[in-house]
Amino acid sequence: MTQNIRYSVDADGIAILAIDVAGRPMNVLTPEFRADLAECIDKVVADSAVRGAVVCSAKSSFMAGADIKDMVGAFDRGITAREASGSSWELHKLFRRMETCGKPLAAAINGVALGGGLELALACHYRVIEDGAKAGVGLPEVTIGLLPGAGGTQRVPRLIGIPAALRLITEGKQLAPADALKQGLVHEVAPADQIVERARQWILKGGEGVQPWDKKGFKVPGGAGQTSPAVAQAFMAGTALTARATMRNYPAPVAILSCVYEGTQVPIEQGLRIESKYFGKLLSGVVARNLMRTLFVNKGLADKLMRRPAGPPKSQVRRLGILGAGMMGAGVAYVSARAGMDVVLLDSTLELAEKGKDYSRQLLAKDVSRGKRTQADADAVIARIKPTASYDDLAGADLVIEAVFENREIKADVTAKTEAVIPKNAVFASNTSTLPITGLAQASKRPAQFIGIHFFSPVDKMPLVEIILGKKTNEDTLARALDYVGQLRKTPIVVNDSRGFYTSRCFGTFVNEGIALLQEGVNPALVENGAKLAGMPVGPLAVSDEVSIDLSWKVMTQTEKDLGRRYDKPVSYDTVRKFVEELKRPGRRFGAGFYDYPQDGKKHLWPGLADVFPRAPQQPSADEVMKRLLYIQALETARCMEEGVVTTAAEADLGSILGWGFPAWTGGTLSYIDTVGVRNFVAECDRLAKRYGKRFKPSKWLRERAERNEPFHPAAGGDTKAA
Ligand code: NAI
Repeated sequence: MTQNIRYSVDADGIAILAIDVAGRPMNVLTPEFRADLAECIDKVVADSAVRGAVVCSAKSSFMAGADIKDMVGAFDRGITAREASGSSWELHKLFRRMETCGKPLAAAINGVALGGGLELALACHYRVIEDGAKAGVGLPEVTIGLLPGAGGTQRVPRLIGIPAALRLITEGKQLAPADALKQGLVHEVAPADQIVERARQWILKGGEGVQPWDKKGFKVPGGAGQTSPAVAQAFMAGTALTARATMRNYPAPVAILSCVYEGTQVPIEQGLRIESKYFGKLLSGVVARNLMRTLFVNKGLADKLMRRPAGPPKSQVRRLGILGAGMMGAGVAYVSARAGMDVVLLDSTLELAEKGKDYSRQLLAKDVSRGKRTQADADAVIARIKPTASYDDLAGADLVIEAVFENREIKADVTAKTEAVIPKNAVFASNTSTLPITGLAQASKRPAQFIGIHFFSPVDKMPLVEIILGKKTNEDTLARALDYVGQLRKTPIVVNDSRGFYTSRCFGTFVNEGIALLQEGVNPALVENGAKLAGMPVGPLAVSDEVSIDLSWKVMTQTEKDLGRRYDKPVSYDTVRKFVEELKRPGRRFGAGFYDYPQDGKKHLWPGLADVFPRAPQQPSADEVMKRLLYIQALETARCMEEGVVTTAAEADLGSILGWGFPAWTGGTLSYIDTVGVRNFVAECDRLAKRYGKRFKPSKWLRERAERNEPFHPAAGGDTKAA
């Protein structure tokens, strides 16, 4: 018995190693667990009465892998590649000791075996997995910028061949038990209560304690290196696909290809050394830190509603009202009904409300046809949505979300009508994308219960929800809005009121800078490709067409009307006006924008752009284009921090990646500044300001921060302490 493994030997001489890592809800590969495992294996070997061992879990799942919270601070602690390789090598020695100990070891997998958990199972000679809906195996390391550093890149190809191994490791997807069996990653699938017994039986029936790769004459199934045409093809295609998918911003997939390519041409011991070398480089690199910190640790905290005030009791929306059954209202109705809420979907006519409900019908029918949902389940979701044109139906709603036209008067009108019928304690939220919440709350008799709940389009796909606090919004309202987002299983960030809030405002600078480049005579293809090379999902001109140039113009004219002389026109102002008013090219929906949209072909950049913006004789480098497009967004985020619009670096980062597609490898806009180094960032902004305009000029606040060399995230993973 150790602290993390319950060790026992049964009457048949089979040792049972039941993993139960102390103080953790899931088993993870802690240093203490490793030490205990080594001790248990020594016992198995030393005890002549023991003929073999079953490795299983005493928790509800086998093992989740390494502890990401532990790894996320490695970069900040200044871990070197050599040190990181060393820790991987220690694990290799332990796992090699297991598979060469001379006695048969079988893994009985309940729940999931992921990452290091699967690698532990792969170091056993036999694997039985539970036949459960939630059970599975996978190597998800690539999604956090790493590679499986406990033998995954070496044992998997030796077990199932290189092409299948590359798919598993570079895609990072989880395999269901039946697929794992089909691929040859496990030997048996059994009911949960029989897995340990089956593993025992395998040993009792004389299961062999030798891995295939330790047998004389072993060859990688399907071949390795350049000698096998299928394998050579897999690497060639893999390299090209990886370059296209990552734009070379993510080092992990390339490192995985290298590990598998190099490691499978040498004996396993050497292969494992190669794996450790590449793992060390990744773990000590900044991209893995950025991905882990933002998309694992900080996203986890946001999902647990870290911004929820502790005082108000936990709430639940049972009945939700939605005003406006257009694109956004229909989407919100769908995700809310899917999460079990009764939804009243109101529009100015019943017909329009029904049309909004049709959206849910379509999405659910797709789910049914793909086997993702039963018809009965889809029917139940549909039955929860009540389309209406009558405000009386909103009676009894816990929360009402307004998603009518972006017009202050209409919004004020529906607010008053709604408040007349809903319970006194109900929360009223606006989904406005631009209008300040405090101003909209003036139409409310209960401004303390008025809040912004800003969804992104398409609502069912976009994971982020931006919660906006008006001046008078109270804590109870914030808590209830966050509880609702929790019910939807989306990721919330909480921001303070401002024009465009946080996400729309920063995203706007990306589009703006793309248009600025165009105005300077930069080749539009260079503008679009520069954005994609940097890792943005879509170029600024294409995305401008998608959201419509017309909408940008409406926002600009509205802001001009609201601010009058205080309005600082964006650099794209004249172009946006020209495309809407003169050229009549207001965006994709209208069939023409910066792109042409032929009925019978693929969209392409409008050739007329060259006449409107004559090509400059000197074109900038792709690096300069990328820099401008990323810097302007990061700089605007810093301004939002300075102004208190967004209040934590973690939320700023999450909002940028999940809200508008800032490249994940950066860790988000503020992580990007930290990655560049705040001093370097400010110096570069000064250069860009001199060359391209004052919009790049850093504020005094940021400059002082640079002088102190103070990053947005405290070093050594300090902002992850709350985890
Ligand atoms: P939409 O034009 O598709 O839908 C608006 C709906 O409101 C229409 O069905 C309309 O009939 C209905 N409506 C208008 N006046 C009404 C009234 N007096 N009573 C009842 N229903 C009324 O607009 P969309 O795109 O759904 O936008 C709605 C709101 O969401 C706007 O405030 C917009 O700024 C915001 N938003 C839009 C996003 C987008 O990507 N389209 C993203 C996030 C927020």
